[in-house]
Amino acid sequence: MPEEYIHQSVMVREVLDALKPRSGGKYVDGTVGGAGHSLAILEASAPDGFLYGCDLDPVAVRVAKTRLAAFEGRWEIRENNFDRLAEWVPAGQCDGVVLDLGISSALLEDASRGFSFERDGPLDMRFSPMTEITAADVVNNLSEEELENIFRNFGDVKEARKIAREIVRVRETGEIKSTLQLAKLVQRVSRTKEPPLPQVFMSLRIYVNDEFDVIERGLDSALKVLKPGGRLAVITFHSGEDRIVKNFGRIKSRDYEVVGEVDLPEFRRTRKPILNIVFKKPICPSEGEVRNNPRARSAKLRIFERI
Ligand SMILES: C[S@@+](CC[C@H](N)C(=O)[O-])C[C@H]1O[C@@H](n2cnc3c(N)ncnc32)[C@H](O)[C@@H]1O
Repeated sequence: MPEEYIHQSVMVREVLDALKPRSGGKYVDGTVGGAGHSLAILEASAPDGFLYGCDLDPVAVRVAKTRLAAFEGRWEIRENNFDRLAEWVPAGQCDGVVLDLGISSALLEDASRGFSFERDGPLDMRFSPMTEITAADVVNNLSEEELENIFRNFGDVKEARKIAREIVRVRETGEIKSTLQLAKLVQRVSRTKEPPLPQVFMSLRIYVNDEFDVIERGLDSALKVLKPGGRLAVITFHSGEDRIVKNFGRIKSRDYEVVGEVDLPEFRRTRKPILNIVFKKPICPSEGEVRNNPRARSAKLRIFERI
């Protein structure tokens, strides 16, 4: 079992407080990763709580199955996208769903997966080997304008245009193939004290894995499998993700839906709210957790309850 997959999971106590797993309950972990949250849910719902889990990363799925072997018979784990949960998890029957979005430290540290700007590897960045495009495809084929939009929209990169222009110039003489090749390019053109490496890499990752659209579909899928009173706990790590989750909560907790392009009174149709927002503000990790696990620093947890 690749040991690096067993990392510290973020906000486990807070997720347990939110979902309150109990024996006999059914739970979903849509981002199993190293199985930290899954394990905690299975322990807390002993002796017979059941867990449906999935992850796009086949290595994570293998690790999770090994790590949860002691609970055999109480889980079903698939290599799958959480936006497809409703296709295989029983509708309207689950007591809790957790989504711990983004990338695991194991993926980040594995140079061969191409997510890190500190380790040299192929510019890949796919969570799943089934995803058709890699970061290298994006960097070497999209237009300057498209690249600029990716950096700006998904990474808030201030120097988006300058970086996109340099990519297009450099690739005329040969493909940009490796993570460090791209990292050095960004460092070379950036005029800021801290070159926007994390932001450039994150924006490519979001684009390659279609993460923002997937989150929206995944939240809808989660709603379909929850039973009334069931809870959804979502951990995000940056403002773009959190905005989508917050907005989802706002829309689903309203007593109307919008039947046009814009939310104007004449386009509103009354309906019952679908969920309650359990806490208005997101929950942040404790100081102790951040001290022990710097990765938790930017985490935000939002909790919703199916009506
Ligand atoms: C932050 S990690 C989860 C860590 C996990 N909660 C734990 O305790 O170890 C995020 C995981 O989500 C997976 N992932 C990202 N997008 C996904 C998606 N759309 N569907 C399923 N898994 C996804 C990644 O492969 C990664 O393993």
